[in-house]
Amino acid sequence: MKPVTAITVSILALVVTLALDRAGVLRQPAVPVAVTPTPAPAPSAAAAPAPSARGGTLAKGAIPRSLPPDAHHQDTIDSLPPGKGRDETFYLCAACHGTALIKQQGLSRELWEASFQLMIDRHGMAKPDDADRALIVDYLSENFPPRRKGRSGDNPFLK
Ligand code: HEC
Repeated sequence: MKPVTAITVSILALVVTLALDRAGVLRQPAVPVAVTPTPAPAPSAAAAPAPSARGGTLAKGAIPRSLPPDAHHQDTIDSLPPGKGRDETFYLCAACHGTALIKQQGLSRELWEASFQLMIDRHGMAKPDDADRALIVDYLSENFPPRRKGRSGDNPFLK
């Protein structure tokens, strides 16, 4: 073997060895790493209550994805018809009562909006941000619109 080849081979061998040295046994850190204990999480962050549908203001997308543990009904997400905004509606509204209260209503968008505001003003429902609010009111008015009365629907005297 020529010296040049020998040197090339040894360099390659060294590079490969170092590359395969995943555990880092051969690569000693140049500077000794000081072991600093990881700081404990700030107590305020640890103690911050989880967002709840039962009060306060909810930031964008902060509607919880679970019901409070003491929800006194057996409704699940499937209690509401599928559609855009179903999950948000369920987790916000079913925190306090079952979905039957919602499903028995047939309201215009305006009245759903009023009903939504009533939940906040009278019952202390958490206030979601405007986008979530619109999403939920859209879902409610699309899925639970005013029901038509009778077979002919409209005023019989106009026929
Ligand atoms: C903070 C608790 C709370 C939340 C959250 C809540 N509600 Fe209510 N809701 C109540 C209470 C209390 C009543 C009173 C009637 C009852 O429980 O029988 C009620 C009643 C209703 C009724 C019956 C009609 C009426 O006006 O009394 C509807 C419809 C309704 N809620 C819709 C909703 C919808 C839609 C949502 C989600 C956007 C929602 N609620 C979220 C507390 C809540």
